[in-house]
Amino acid sequence: MGLQFVVEPTATPTSADALAEILAAPGFGKHFTDHMATATWTADDGWHDARIRPYGPLQLDPATHVFHYGQTIFEGFKAYHQPDGTIATFRPAANGERFVRSAARMALPALPVEDFVTAADLLIRQDAAWVPTDPETSLYLRPFMIATEVGLGVRPASEVTFLVIASPAASYFGAVVRPVTIWLSEDYSRAAPGGTGAAKCGGNYAASLVAQQEAIANGCDQVVFLDAVERRWVEELGGMNIFFVLDDGTLVTPELTGSILEGVTRDTVLTIAKELGHEVEERRVDVDEWRKGAETGRITEVFACGTAAVVTSLGSLRWRGGEVTMPAEMPVAQRVRDTLVGIQHGLLPDPHGWLHRVP
Ligand code: COI
Repeated sequence: MGLQFVVEPTATPTSADALAEILAAPGFGKHFTDHMATATWTADDGWHDARIRPYGPLQLDPATHVFHYGQTIFEGFKAYHQPDGTIATFRPAANGERFVRSAARMALPALPVEDFVTAADLLIRQDAAWVPTDPETSLYLRPFMIATEVGLGVRPASEVTFLVIASPAASYFGAVVRPVTIWLSEDYSRAAPGGTGAAKCGGNYAASLVAQQEAIANGCDQVVFLDAVERRWVEELGGMNIFFVLDDGTLVTPELTGSILEGVTRDTVLTIAKELGHEVEERRVDVDEWRKGAETGRITEVFACGTAAVVTSLGSLRWRGGEVTMPAEMPVAQRVRDTLVGIQHGLLPDPHGWLHRVP
């Protein structure tokens, strides 16, 4: 039997007026629902003390492991209102499986996928009023695990806390849909062979921030990382995977080398693209192929994908001393996006059973 969550409802729920104001313009990751899910793991007792309880600050000793050695992982997936009035999440078990793999890489305990999905289901049910109904909006679920043992010895923690928080979400890139400008990071790497690139751990995102700062300083929205060895092969954007569309309609995405995150949206896009009649290739992509392909027209579109970003067109690639710009129209990215969003919102058939109804 899976973990049994005790539900402790908040005594001070958000008022209907305040909630309506939040849901009218949720932004991304700015507002959090009234509750959160928590569970504790100890080396002696395994997973226990599972609760849905009022959202609020955690009280942690300053010597808690996670503050010092970064032993932490997270996930992201979304819940959507369906036309029949139910709420569904999209491929939560795929995120739960990746959470197990990330945990293994970071010497954290495995949380059974069933418990991962149940925690989110119960939180969504408790805070169902927070799932926005507008098209293009959703409730973003953020499961995470932190090492909560107290002490400064560097070793896998013998006490760990699992949490799920939830946040109503609109577009990650703001209200105006426009192609995103990309900075090519030539000095910084996100991940190296044998490192943690394939794990969804906080450190990967921390390591990307200085490159992201450089991107902003150069007038770009996001940064693209190359492999750490040859500094030549396109990896990912740090929080999103990347796809190229060739002039014959083929979709190409960097193959999973161990230093790239195995995106659930990446996997979904590969399936959708095939079903829309495109050839798909998972292979290494030289950044010069991007630069030259954009100039010659061999590459017709470039887009990023992820839970938060969904499918976002990439407009230009900028580097020290140069820039290439993609065409303004990105019909393939648009069609893939429309199909994905249509399935997520229950407006298109779901032949793969990707939607999970929240009981
Ligand atoms: C997601 O797409 O869920 C991500 O993890 C990207 C970012 C918000 C960290």
